[in-house]
Amino acid sequence: MLHRWFYISTSRLDARKTNEGIQEIVEVSLPRNRSLRVTGALLFTGQKFTQYLEGSPAAIAELKQSISRDARHEAIHTIAYGPFDHRRFLGWSLAYAGPSRFVAAKVEKALSAVLDQGDEEIEALAEMLAGFAIEGHS
Ligand SMILES: Cc1cc2nc3c(=O)[nH]c(=O)nc-3n(C[C@H](O)[C@H](O)[C@H](O)COP(=O)(O)O)c2cc1C
Repeated sequence: MLHRWFYISTSRLDARKTNEGIQEIVEVSLPRNRSLRVTGALLFTGQKFTQYLEGSPAAIAELKQSISRDARHEAIHTIAYGPFDHRRFLGWSLAYAGPSRFVAAKVEKALSAVLDQGDEEIEALAEMLAGFAIEGHS
């Protein structure tokens, strides 16, 4: 069975050192997610993170525990957690949207739609993340 965890959080990274902060997260995440066979994407807008993780229920629960107690972000708001029928991502990637005001604005808009309108906007946001993630691979 496959589980997913999809959440939004607010960054507490030092605004002057976000590149280093993101780099540190990625360095730990890539090998750990690979060994847990967890795939997904992390997107950072400069203020907010949104992350989609998919894998075995045990692996998702383990990562959720680690990520939830991480002081580098706060106000973690789960938008989807639980069984899901297929993987949406091929690997784990980082879709970094910080430097692009256009992308950041689009993501912020999608995040508010999820918070305001709920379920039907969740898949739209996940698809947006998938689009960025594929670009991130090429
Ligand atoms: C926004 C954000 C996303 C993260 N994503 C992952 C991730 O996908 N995989 C991962 O192993 N760690 C991720 N981390 C790091 C974990 O929170 C944690 O520091 C790391 O996995 C080590 O776990 P531990 O503190 O339980 O030893 C993330 C941290 C933040 C702030």
